[in-house]
Amino acid sequence: MRRKTARKFAVSVGLCATLLGGMAYAEHKDIDLKDYDDDLMHDVDRVLKFFEPDITAGNAANALDDAGVIRDGFTYSKGYFSKKGNAEDAVKIAQDGLDLVASIEKSVEAKDFSGAATLARQVPNTCKACHEIYKPRNK
Ligand code: HEC
Repeated sequence: MRRKTARKFAVSVGLCATLLGGMAYAEHKDIDLKDYDDDLMHDVDRVLKFFEPDITAGNAANALDDAGVIRDGFTYSKGYFSKKGNAEDAVKIAQDGLDLVASIEKSVEAKDFSGAATLARQVPNTCKACHEIYKPRNK
């Protein structure tokens, strides 16, 4: 009986988190982005498509190259939003991305490719988290 209640509670917490996620999306922030480096974002986007396949294939050299480009993207966006000010959320998201990339690099270097691949699958969530708040919706 108790167990069932606990599970119900977990489900409603999950639902709340989903709703809150939706609300965060509604709180989209419009800021001036004309000096933002779109080319770098495109490079990162392109490399991200090879990242997990390179890891899964056990290609450490390529995976570390990919990681370097993705790291550049997070470093850039962290710096951009730090300078912009009033965007601690973006800075934090970019830092989470940097931490994630560092863990992936460590796993790849230790030849733990399956662990690295699992982590690599989380990278797009980090991109999305920032885009939902700061990327113009028509882009
Ligand atoms: C901390 C914030 C942030 C993070 C993290 C982030 N981005 Fe972006 N990204 C932006 C913003 C802001 C724009 C919109 C730039 C503009 O409108 O000029 C953008 C735009 C883009 C674009 C479209 C560029 C264009 O020409 O319109 C792509 C592609 C992209 N990001 C890919 C990625 C990928 C892939 C990741 C994750 C590996 C990522 N981004 C992580 C903030 C971020």
